Amino acid sequence: MVSFIFPVGIALLASHAAAIPFSFDLHSLHPHSSLISRQEQMPPACTEYCSVLSGCVCIRRPTNCVANYTVQSGDNCGTIVDKYNNFTATELYKWNPEIGQQCFGLQAYVPVCIMVSGYKYPGPVKGGDIKTPEQTPIPTQPGIVSNCTKFEYTDKQGIPTLATILSTNKITKQQWNRWNFPSQDSNGDYFAWAQFWSCIAA
Ligand SMILES: *[C@@H]1O[C@H](CO)[C@@H](O)[C@H](O)[C@H]1NC(C)=O
Ligand SMILES: *[C@@H]1O[C@H](CO)[C@@H](O)[C@H](O)[C@H]1NC(C)=O
Ligand SMILES: *[C@@H]1O[C@H](CO)[C@@H](O)[C@H](O)[C@H]1NC(C)=O
Repeated sequence: MVSFIFPVGIALLASHAAAIPFSFDLHSLHPHSSLISRQEQMPPACTEYCSVLSGCVCIRRPTNCVANYTVQSGDNCGTIVDKYNNFTATELYKWNPEIGQQCFGLQAYVPVCIMVSGYKYPGPVKGGDIKTPEQTPIPTQPGIVSNCTKFEYTDKQGIPTLATILSTNKITKQQWNRWNFPSQDSNGDYFAWAQFWSCIAA
């Protein structure tokens, strides 16, 4: 499959809610944060958010957040970014750290920050864009090795395909498999997930 969508579903709510830690360590989320110009002002701790539909969850939002969007059932980072087209998934993660680097922590009926004062949209991420870990590529495919040094984005249409990623970066399928699916057969046939960053060097 080219496109793996992990929608936010009601059935997942309980497990998501249980998985949300009640405090966050900013440094563990942004190990290279000094290299990134940061406009978001994050409070030191999360605050409880309660609603009938979402239950109570602890969320951390920038104190200079000026616009929210309430996540709907079926949303993922791709659908939210496409809906507004005025921020990237990297910002969505920086402004809403509990969503995680794969965005699997998005929770239905919980507001996410979609704008902080002073933010300037750099334009959409394009298939074939390359980022280092310091540039916080979001969302990354789950399971990528921790020593990945370069990531490449595959767009909604599945472009570039894995074959193109391999040839343009002069890497083998086995290398790509070992970096992206380290627990799977390195000779297996996998795909670069649409609207995710995969690892192209480690
Ligand atoms: C966004 O939602 C959070 C959580 O409910 C709230 O604290 C904040 O005031 C909201 N911000 C705006 C701009 O509505
Ligand atoms: C994106 O657009 C929405 C809706 O117009 C707006 O509320 C929000 O502030 C915008 N965010 C950015 C980052 O410009
Ligand atoms: C990166 O990590 C993987 C898996 O943990 C390991 O097998 C590999 O040797 C590491 N590569 C380098 C260059 O350190």
